[in-house]
Amino acid sequence: MKIVTTVKELREHLRDEVSQEKNSIGFIPTMGALHQGHAKLIKQAREENEIVVVSIFLNPTQFLKGEDLGIYPKRDEADKKICQLSGVDILFFPSVDEIYKDDEASILAPRVRGFVLEGFSRAGHFNGVLTVVMKLLNIVNPTKAYFGKKDAQQLNLIKLMVEQFFMSVEIVAVETQRESDGLALSSRNAYLSKDERQEALKIPQSLHLCAKLVSKNVRNRDEIVNNMREVLHPLEIFYVEVLNRNFEVIKEVELGNSVVLVEAKVGSTRLLDNIWL
Ligand code: PAJ
Repeated sequence: MKIVTTVKELREHLRDEVSQEKNSIGFIPTMGALHQGHAKLIKQAREENEIVVVSIFLNPTQFLKGEDLGIYPKRDEADKKICQLSGVDILFFPSVDEIYKDDEASILAPRVRGFVLEGFSRAGHFNGVLTVVMKLLNIVNPTKAYFGKKDAQQLNLIKLMVEQFFMSVEIVAVETQRESDGLALSSRNAYLSKDERQEALKIPQSLHLCAKLVSKNVRNRDEIVNNMREVLHPLEIFYVEVLNRNFEVIKEVELGNSVVLVEAKVGSTRLLDNIWL
């Protein structure tokens, strides 16, 4: 595995790797503190591409003032090992100065879909996400790029950007990986105390209840949301919402075209989860 820190080196290595017989590039952008969720994205990319590139870049522009940028978990050596063991060919580990200069052009998230739900409680967050993803996709120029369904709104907005900017990369959505008790893997789980870790289980439990209600033919948005809110009590809930796959709020679940999202705070940690129905 090659570890590179500059765009120039990355492009040189890619040029060396790519040949007529070996030319599909799978790319997984991350912010590090890698876990089995990231590993699943890498595994799928490894199966579907000849060359696999991972980036680790803690992107400052997607953190709002007062958020956890300064304390976000950093595990560089462990991350390198995980990438190596997962068969990554090139690990791109740039500095902030390599990615951002002064007086920058940037991407703005769409006015509606980028500023509801997580985009509402973290106004501007998705501008930073889309800007860095655009930059990284342009740097690597992959055939396919892999994103987790856990961050459903991020995934939706990235797909939208790729479509609306006529980019040729294929965006691949990967299932959410969970701990054995149901908690979705997240680098931010590292912030949870033992008691908070237990409290956090209310989130997958609320989604479990949602699935159960739907299996009993409940389709009504309000009934589903109210029942889920009871399970989540007394966590601080940012939203529980039922959307279609275009990210529009719907009043009735449509099987095959719905996603139910939860964002709640456990202690001082925001956690996201969702179920695709
Ligand atoms: P990060 O939180 O490091 O996540 C990198 C990728 O891993 C994202 O596509 C995310 O959805 C996926 N992922 C995280 N937890 C997962 C889980 N439990 N199961 C499956 N996939 C999971 O998301 C970001 O970084 C950043 O916003 C980024 C896209 C890299 C832009 O800075």
